[in-house]
Amino acid sequence: MAEALLIDLLGLEMNSQDSSFQKLLHNMLEAVEKHYSVSAPSVYIMCCQTQQSGRNGVQDWLLKAMSSSQILKRSFEIICTANTTAALYTIKQKLDEKDLSIIKIILPAQRKALMRVFIDHLFTSVYHFEFEELWVDCEPNHLQEAETQNEVQMLPAQDTELIVNEIQTYLERLPSLKGELTILKSALIPGDIFLHGFTTRAGGISYIPTLSSFNLFSNPIRRDPKIVVRENLRRLANAAGFDPKTYHSVKVNHANDVWIMGKTEPKSYDGITTNQRGVTIAAPGADCIPVLFADPVKKACGAAHSGWRGTLMGVAMATVSAMIEEYGCNVRDILVVLGPSVGACCYTLPQESAKEFHQIDPKCVRSFDSPTPYVDIRRATRALLESGGILPQNIQDDSIADQNQNITFCTACHPDKFYSHVRDGSNFGTQIGFISIRN
Ligand SMILES: *[C@@H]1O[C@H](CO)[C@@H](O)[C@H](O)[C@H]1NC(C)=O
Ligand SMILES: *[C@@H]1O[C@H](CO)[C@@H](O)[C@H](O)[C@H]1NC(C)=O
Repeated sequence: MAEALLIDLLGLEMNSQDSSFQKLLHNMLEAVEKHYSVSAPSVYIMCCQTQQSGRNGVQDWLLKAMSSSQILKRSFEIICTANTTAALYTIKQKLDEKDLSIIKIILPAQRKALMRVFIDHLFTSVYHFEFEELWVDCEPNHLQEAETQNEVQMLPAQDTELIVNEIQTYLERLPSLKGELTILKSALIPGDIFLHGFTTRAGGISYIPTLSSFNLFSNPIRRDPKIVVRENLRRLANAAGFDPKTYHSVKVNHANDVWIMGKTEPKSYDGITTNQRGVTIAAPGADCIPVLFADPVKKACGAAHSGWRGTLMGVAMATVSAMIEEYGCNVRDILVVLGPSVGACCYTLPQESAKEFHQIDPKCVRSFDSPTPYVDIRRATRALLESGGILPQNIQDDSIADQNQNITFCTACHPDKFYSHVRDGSNFGTQIGFISIRN
């Protein structure tokens, strides 16, 4: 059963003087009342507010029309906006606040294909939409599009593009939340050769509490759609000075595959390397470590995503090895920075897994006798890198105090700055580490 009901009057020209419009509205609301009088989902009425109709003109008129005809007695909200993007984005926020996901949209048949495109871009698979076409007998000139064919299922590609543009423009204008966009930079990586940084959670547009506000990873099982994450990325690219079109993030597979850019892209990979200028590579993390690699001599770089599994599988050294093999890097020239990640203070694993960390270095595990010992994935990463030949002073993590700016913060300890899976549960957002070779 629907938890929310959306009534789409956006395609209608509101005209209070017009009796046939009155009739149309009446029929529409009456149908709604008849179908949904028993259950009481949240009801949102979307209507179009043009410049002529004034600030509250349409809304007032709708309210008056509804109260005088005694329809839709139950509570509802009227969302009067200039366009469909604004209406749906406003309603999405209301749905998210109430944690609703089963939605029925009642709309004129000819709005269906259009509405589907909007929904595909603004929502994720968390939401289940059902469409109900409302056939109303009215003069065709009350509907924006005159054709009333039954089988309009797909919009032409250029119309879809227009819709995507409208959404993007709308999102671009939204104010950033939770403060200024902040990028953490390591003093170890030379800024004249590389552009790099680690993101924090401030300065984006994601508004759902655990994703707010600079979420940089879209998972269809969460409420941030791709297009919102893309807008956050656009803001990052603007601030950092890279081209979002040549941005590549690793996939997240918790393994040790590495994609050497320019070669065939594997299905999944947690490491990525490049020696091409102007290409930005990145690794996400939300407790897992985003690790950046830079060789200022051969001018090559890498990024890896290293959670506990990836750490045990050696994804950091796998990325180093790829740089050595592909670009002829000397292991002694490679600089490695471990980004914000869960600290040994906040991370426990079952004893079986902790045992494997203990084998790397006993100091990686605390309270080893407990069923869930504390594990230091950063220390294990450092130990594996050092035994692979990376110089200890060429690794930045929490064991080296940087007087200018610390990088390897504990994600779980700083809810104001970072996302954390162990702290926030399954709806966590994601920060990233990114690097590119300057032109
Ligand atoms: C849509 O409406 C919003 C808010 O009412 C406005 O800021 C935006 O410019 C509109 N977009 C278009 C394409 O008209
Ligand atoms: C970085 O962390 C160290 C301790 O690890 C601390 O002494 C230092 O003041 C911190 N620096 C900044 C800029 O926060």
